Amino acid sequence: MSVNIFLVALALVGLAQGASFGQDTRIRYDNHSVYKVRFETKDQRDWLRKLAEDRDNFKLWHEAKDEIHLMVSPGALDDFQKEVLKANVTADIFIKNVQELINTEKAENFMAARDGSFGWSKYNTLDEIYAWLDEILAAYPVITEGFVLGQSYENRTIRGIKISYKSGNPGVFIESNIHAREWITSATATWLINEFLTSTDDFVRELAESHDWYIIPVLNVDGFVYTHEKDRMWRKTRQPSDISTCVGVDPNRNYDSHWMENGGASENPCAEDYGGPAPFSEPEIQAMANYVSANKEKFNVLIAFHSYSQLLLSPYGHTSEEFPPNFEDQMEVAKAYADAVESLPYGTVYRYGSSAGILYPASGATIDWAYNEQDIEITYTIEFRDTGRYGFILPPTHIVPNAEEALIGIAALLDKCEELGYLELKTL
Ligand SMILES: *[C@@H]1O[C@H](CO)[C@@H](O)[C@H](O)[C@H]1NC(C)=O
Ligand SMILES: *[C@@H]1O[C@H](CO)[C@@H](O)[C@H](O)[C@H]1NC(C)=O
Ligand SMILES: *[C@@H]1O[C@H](CO)[C@@H](O)[C@H](O)[C@H]1NC(C)=O
Ligand SMILES: [Zn+2]
Repeated sequence: MSVNIFLVALALVGLAQGASFGQDTRIRYDNHSVYKVRFETKDQRDWLRKLAEDRDNFKLWHEAKDEIHLMVSPGALDDFQKEVLKANVTADIFIKNVQELINTEKAENFMAARDGSFGWSKYNTLDEIYAWLDEILAAYPVITEGFVLGQSYENRTIRGIKISYKSGNPGVFIESNIHAREWITSATATWLINEFLTSTDDFVRELAESHDWYIIPVLNVDGFVYTHEKDRMWRKTRQPSDISTCVGVDPNRNYDSHWMENGGASENPCAEDYGGPAPFSEPEIQAMANYVSANKEKFNVLIAFHSYSQLLLSPYGHTSEEFPPNFEDQMEVAKAYADAVESLPYGTVYRYGSSAGILYPASGATIDWAYNEQDIEITYTIEFRDTGRYGFILPPTHIVPNAEEALIGIAALLDKCEELGYLELKTL
């Protein structure tokens, strides 16, 4: 008897160790640091982009007009510092060791998961999100409706939920987690779904009940699972390339609208912003396009959740030379969101502008396709918290505050849309 118990105990210890150390094949980022590099000239920018092509040593985290955030491997640090001096740019370190942040996040997820419940004190996996969706759909059968957007390259189901309290509401479409590593986006999307169904606050009830919501918590399902199981920093889809050993496409450059124009995406399959071999080459994006175009008259507003950098970005992405006809309205709408968020006690500041105007040309994005090709006149990319202190590895303690900001921001955005006449029903 006692021998058996001993063996069982031994096996359990072995399992626990196997799960947490021995068989962990996750990519590690020990001593990888992230630098904020500020530049002024086009030459400096070109030099930085060139540097980032060394994909073994550098990874682009964020890119703006005058600033790039680069993750640097420990082996390349000396060379990087020499190059920085030569190029006369300023580089400030803001993350010393990316693996430490990943470890902390993992530990916090583990602690929060011990009571076994779905929640917003941790980042949930795709299986957890889908199990929770099933519970929600079963608990609110009249108000909610599940739908399937399509299948991913690896044959996972891309699921959505519609929430509608009454007929005749304007429609709001929310796309989330198209970029795999941006975990705060699906955490926020699921929190919003929960609020719309369970909140007793009058303000939230009014917001929830006077709009129809179409929410995709995780669009890039393959990439998302990959970030949980293999590489926390993965961004793209998981479809292999015919011309390279590099895997995946930037799904937010894969829509058929000004695809690959003006250097708005890379032709290099290894780049983080690879636009793909053709528009809609990614089944996830084709599925999204099929669904949105088949239902476009239902959507007054489309919002795409991203992180990080605290920005609201509107069309156009492919050019900063031209602006959409209703650009002024879009700016008013963005201002309403930013002002509402800043009015919360957290005081979080959002900036806004057109994608190409405020950042750099980026073509083939969801919001540009929805605006240009589907006549959805208010479309926004929202880049959530933070501005680089944690970047993509935002601690779970930020989930609820970030989601509260999204809620009040979206409420203000929709109020402004209504005032400006964007919430009229399109057809009957
Ligand atoms: C990270 O850097 C520290 C300090 O230089 C060093 O002691 C440690 O061995 C490094 N870790 C890895 C995994 O290289
Ligand atoms: C470096 O940049 C500073 C500030 O922009 C400028 O004053 C200086 O002339 C530059 N030096 C070189 C060698 O380009
Ligand atoms: C997806 O499913 C199809 C049909 O069952 C199969 O042919 C294909 O190999 C699967 N793809 C992957 C990546 O598993
Ligand atoms: Zn993104």
